[in-house]
Amino acid sequence: MSKTRAIITAVEGYVPEDVIDNEMLSKMVDTSDEWIMTRIGIKTRHILKDHKGPSDMGKIVVDNILKKKNLSPDEIELIVCCTVTPDMQFPATANIIADKCNIRKGFGFDLHAGCSGFVYGITTAAKYIEAGMIKKAIVIGAEKMTSIVDYQDRATCPIFGDAAAAILLEASEEEGVGVIDEVLYSDGVGVKHLHQVAGGSCYPATVETVMNRQHFIYQEGQAVFKWAVVKMAEVTEELLKRNNMQKSDIDFLLPHQANLRIIKATGDRLELKPEQVLVNIERMGNTTSATIPMLIYENQNKFKKGDNLILTSFGAGFTWGAVLVKWAL
Ligand code: UT7
Repeated sequence: MSKTRAIITAVEGYVPEDVIDNEMLSKMVDTSDEWIMTRIGIKTRHILKDHKGPSDMGKIVVDNILKKKNLSPDEIELIVCCTVTPDMQFPATANIIADKCNIRKGFGFDLHAGCSGFVYGITTAAKYIEAGMIKKAIVIGAEKMTSIVDYQDRATCPIFGDAAAAILLEASEEEGVGVIDEVLYSDGVGVKHLHQVAGGSCYPATVETVMNRQHFIYQEGQAVFKWAVVKMAEVTEELLKRNNMQKSDIDFLLPHQANLRIIKATGDRLELKPEQVLVNIERMGNTTSATIPMLIYENQNKFKKGDNLILTSFGAGFTWGAVLVKWAL
C-alpha cells in the first residue's frame, strides 16, 4: 500500500499596498540606500496600516485558496497560522482567520517558531495528513513585523516588512511527491541575541516598558548572522544525506529572506546556480514566517512535477530547519 503524503495543491500570497523605501528610511534614521543594499539587499518593504493585523491578510489568502479550489470552508480541517506578530496575545490568529473565512468544522492553532515558523508549520500539518487524521489543511505565514519594528533603530528598521502567504495541503496516495522529509532544530542559545523584551507575561506593558522601547525587536545582528550563514546550508546537507540525495538533485532552494549575503552564501555552499536560489528580499524585506510561502507563491509557475524544492530557514529561538518537497502539480 502506498504511503499517504501531504501535497501542496494551491498557494496564495498577499502584500499590503503601502511601501517604505530606503529613501523614506534615510529620513527617519541615519542610513542610506547604499548601506542597506550592500549589507542587507533590501530596496522596499510593505507595511500594513490602519490597525489591521495578520488575520486581515490571512483572510485574503485563505479566501483566495478556497475560491481557486472551489472548496467550501467546511472542508478545511486544520488551519496552522505561523506568526510572531499575532493579532492579539490570545486567541490564536488561526482562529480569527477561521472566523473571518467561516471555517467552523476544523481546528486551528498558531505556531511560533520565529522565522522558521513556516518550515515547522508545513511539517506539523503534513504529519496530521500522513497519520490519516485529516485530508485538508491550510498553513499560513502571516506577519505584521512593522508593528514591532523600532523606527528609531537603524540596525533593525530596514530589515522587516509585512505580508501573508498560504498553502493548501491535501492528502495524496501518489507515489513520490509531496512533503517528503524534514530536519528541524532549535537551540535556546539564541534567545539573548534576538527577542522582544516586553509585551509577554514577564514584562507586560507599562509606561516604563513603552518609554524604554522594549516592545520592539531586539537583535544582535552579527551574532545572528554567524549562525544563519552556516545553519541553513548545514541542515540542508543533512536533509539531502538522509534522503540519499546530492546537491545536484536540488531543483530550487527556497531560503528564508533575512539578508541577501546569507542567501548567497547558502546557495554557494550548496553549489547552486543563482537562478535556482529563489529571492524576493529586495522587494519585500524579511517577512519572517511569510518569506517561504511567498516564494512558493511567486515562483509556482517555474516548478515542474517531481522537482525537488528545499525550503530552509533560520530565525529567532534559535530555530532552523529544512524541508524537502517534491512538487506535485
Ligand atoms: O530573520 C531572522 C534572522 N535574522 C538574521 O538572519 C539577521 C542576521 N544579521 C544580519 O543580517 C546583519 O547582521 C545585519 C543586516 C542586521 C547588520 O549587518 P552587519 O553587516 O552585521 O552590520 P553591523 O551590525 O556589524 O554594523 C556595521 C556598522 C556599525 O557601525 P560601526 O560600529 O562599524 O561604526 C553599525 O552601527 O554599520 C552600522 N549600521 C548602519 N549604518 C548605516 C548599522 N545599521 C546601519 C544602517 N545604516 N541601517
